[in-house]
Amino acid sequence: MNSTPQHIVDKFGRVHDYLRISLTERCNLRCFYCMPEEGIELRDKSAFMSAEELIDIAKTFVSLGVKKIRLTGGEPLIKKNAAFILRELGKLPVEVTLTTNAVNVDRFIDVMKEAGIKSINVSLDSLKEERFNAISRRNYFQKITENIDLLLENGFHVKLNVVVIRGTNDDEIVDFIEWTKKTPIHVRFIEFMPFDGNKWNWEKKVSFKEILQQVTAHYGENGFYQLKDKPNRTSRCFKLANSKGTFGIISSVTNPFCDTCNRIRLTADGKIKNCLFSNDEIDLLSLHRKKLPLLPAIIDAIQSKDKKRAGLGEFNDKMAEKLQNRSMITIGG
Ligand code: 5AD
Ligand code: SF4
Repeated sequence: MNSTPQHIVDKFGRVHDYLRISLTERCNLRCFYCMPEEGIELRDKSAFMSAEELIDIAKTFVSLGVKKIRLTGGEPLIKKNAAFILRELGKLPVEVTLTTNAVNVDRFIDVMKEAGIKSINVSLDSLKEERFNAISRRNYFQKITENIDLLLENGFHVKLNVVVIRGTNDDEIVDFIEWTKKTPIHVRFIEFMPFDGNKWNWEKKVSFKEILQQVTAHYGENGFYQLKDKPNRTSRCFKLANSKGTFGIISSVTNPFCDTCNRIRLTADGKIKNCLFSNDEIDLLSLHRKKLPLLPAIIDAIQSKDKKRAGLGEFNDKMAEKLQNRSMITIGG
């Protein structure tokens, strides 16, 4: 099957073989950079894909050549049928992965193994309990760190997502890297991005350059080295000499990786977003419910993809004020 994936190639030759599906807009945490303080509008269950609809739509993408599916949220592991979805996706000829806050991971270890999941991204923005709980406005630090250990003990490849925010956690970069010395964990520092309701400003983001300066100041220029880039990479990866893990920096603000982007997003309400920052959404779920073909809509979404960051241009404070995007929680990262 999938020998010529022409339907998922865009105007710039990028092959969109990586689908990110948001299972739910809800979350058991309230990270301030993701979930607006006032919360999000709750909608009726019928507005969202059922597990069966999600699997059907995912199968269409796989038949077009999608090779990797990542489940996101909100928090994917609070979706009622998450185990069923994982098992069903696990039967398809794709790599299945997920991004989770790890609060519920202990209940899914076996299902994740059954689904053939090898690699898991966990969001953790601080190694200090009080601080983490303040960022996420909940008290799950212990549970999450125990679950990260559980994932490692069970042989999963664990990537940690750390959104670096000035004045919040930018003093912990070295602490996170120290963790990689004896643990095969992959820390990724992410530049803080603007989304609706997350109080972003240019000053709060900590840039790739600054992060690297902090690392160099601590370990010295010869204390770490850069690893070879993987295709479609989002982060530049580094490693301390003799460490078990690695660390990377995702420069989504100061140097986006749009030229090699291979991602398509499906929101929990069944809309395709061709870019994290795009406002144009194509409603696949309605088409699916009307039993209309999805292919023309998918082609349209991919063909209308802009070269860079949905045509928004550079980020700055003015642009962030006007940003009419969904909040991160409703997109799924
Ligand atoms: N800026 C950068 N990264 C973010 N994430 C969520 N909100 C933001 C933001 N404003 C990241 C989280 C999560 C992933 C899905 O997206 O780290 O792990
Ligand atoms: Fe939940 Fe992740 Fe958003 Fe935090 S960043 S509120 S864990 S979806």
